[in-house]
Amino acid sequence: MCGIVGYVGPQNALDVVLEGLRRLEYRGYDSAGVAVLAGGGQATAKKAGKLANLEKDLADSPLPESTIGIGHTRWATHGGPTDRNAHPHVSADGRVAVIHNGIIENFAALRAECEAAGVEFTSETDTEVAAHLLARVYDETPPGPGRLAEAMRTVSRRLEGAFTLVASHADEPDTLVASRRNSPLVVGVGEAADGTPEYFLGSDVAAFIAHTREARELGQDQVVEIDRHRGLTVTDFAGTAVEPHAYTVDWDAEAAEKGGYDWFMLKEIAEQPRAVADTLLGRIGQGGELVLDEVRLSDQDLRDIDKVFVVACGTAYHAGLIAKYAIEHWTRIPVEVEVASEFRYRDPVLDRSTLVVVISQSGETMDTLMALRHAKEQKARVLAICNANGSTIPRESDAVLYTHAGPEVAVASTKGFLTQLIACYLVGLFLAQVRGIKYADEVATIVDDLRRLPEAVAEVLTRMEPVRELGRSLAGAGTILFLGRHVAFPVALEGALKLKELAYIHAEGFAAGELKHGPIALIDQGTPVVVVVPSPRARESVHGKVVSNIQEVRARGARTIVIAEEGDEDVVPYADHVIRVPRTPTLMAPVVTTVPLQVLACEIADTRGYDVDQPRNLAKSVTVE
Ligand code: M6R
Repeated sequence: MCGIVGYVGPQNALDVVLEGLRRLEYRGYDSAGVAVLAGGGQATAKKAGKLANLEKDLADSPLPESTIGIGHTRWATHGGPTDRNAHPHVSADGRVAVIHNGIIENFAALRAECEAAGVEFTSETDTEVAAHLLARVYDETPPGPGRLAEAMRTVSRRLEGAFTLVASHADEPDTLVASRRNSPLVVGVGEAADGTPEYFLGSDVAAFIAHTREARELGQDQVVEIDRHRGLTVTDFAGTAVEPHAYTVDWDAEAAEKGGYDWFMLKEIAEQPRAVADTLLGRIGQGGELVLDEVRLSDQDLRDIDKVFVVACGTAYHAGLIAKYAIEHWTRIPVEVEVASEFRYRDPVLDRSTLVVVISQSGETMDTLMALRHAKEQKARVLAICNANGSTIPRESDAVLYTHAGPEVAVASTKGFLTQLIACYLVGLFLAQVRGIKYADEVATIVDDLRRLPEAVAEVLTRMEPVRELGRSLAGAGTILFLGRHVAFPVALEGALKLKELAYIHAEGFAAGELKHGPIALIDQGTPVVVVVPSPRARESVHGKVVSNIQEVRARGARTIVIAEEGDEDVVPYADHVIRVPRTPTLMAPVVTTVPLQVLACEIADTRGYDVDQPRNLAKSVTVE
């Protein structure tokens, strides 16, 4: 989604802003732009396409030096990805420059109002209305310190929808203001080499992590004013002062670099053993019991729960599907799993004894955030599983369990997913522990299984060369199907999603038991079918049934690619390729079986010549509906 950067400080703003935009490229975008305050006016540059296009223009026609600037990478919503629609948008009088993330839902009415007042619009965006409104309201606001912030509050109260707006005004050469509702924004507070304070605005901390790790969270419906002399002031939309929550980012710029890998995705796949280990770290007590201090729900609250909903989008939803198997098995509490965009628009039956687990790597996914609010309105307890510290979803939840994956830059989620699985296991087991459903020794045994997972993932990673070779041979495929059963079914869905988003190949994941109810008709001579085989120890001979499915698709001409645990010889006669994973407890098998599917999708996309880290049309975090 759109990336936002702002800077006030002694350095050349354009350099800082462009560097911030580079670090936000992973969010996904299709145009970019910058504005700096200089010579008593706004100087802007904007360009469709990658940031490199804008940088080329800037090399040909540089902007003046300035110490205050804003920058934006746009993911088109209203109006196509053209130079004209790129941000910043400047007011008709040329004094105000605005960048925006989100959707202003009442923009049509506001645009009509501006047009009636004689304003001519130059873009098709919803954002432009904010620039014109801010300029008009500024003129009507009494002069004095804080005038731009006051104008921003007035405008913000009139806007509906989701927005992070950052604006500068030519008459206030020392000030940046920003406003946020339902859309992310963080403030960075640092000190330049000469000791002068400097301030940053970013849609996430990656925008300024190279300069400072000291961050301030901006809450819902708040406006921040950054003034070179007066510093940082945060208020709500009514103007009441608010103390922003300060925190230190627990990773640094190095963690957000590629570290010698061709793609961030490859680096993030390789980081998975460490990420899984870090997600377990500090959560296991001396006696093998779980210690989840961050889960701010009392034991009594947890004992009162009689139903669990898991709500998420995309890959995080797949983690939720796997969570259901574990939580129901360990706790005997009924679990429903739903995509957030459906959950939020129906009437799920929830009350105080319902636990809603929302899963989001970014903590900013709009549908998941809205689902969370929908759940809270009905008094359900909400527990967030999230990777991004300080993001909106954990902040609005009753409890939070952070996955400690570190920054995930590639659009396709990998370590985010594996650590979400670990967090789901922790939640399930913790419920079982608190409710006394499992004896302490049973909990400790499962905890031991969890502790072995980082090593198991590391082992899978050592065996990936044949998978890459296979990937190269599959790069010309028109369709690839994925089958799984029991916990391997969501893994099949995840494998198909990875392939679609990275390689743009038609892929579908099916529950293997559904094969004969329709999908088998898709099998043609040579159709690659990836079968994720559940553990032979899975219940009710599920394993045997999947082996039969492999035979069935092969009999119809499929090229069978089988992911099976070591020692599972039953699959061998029917597999054209076998990918081996270490033997892992039934419920935890997805932690190892997903990894080859990540590698496969990455290799196929790379072979086809695609940008693995920033697939077309996609954004890292979907902050609009
Ligand atoms: O940040 P979130 O976990 O809330 O994101 C949810 C999905 O948008 C995300 O998992 C998406 O499906 C990824 N592109 C998957 O690789």
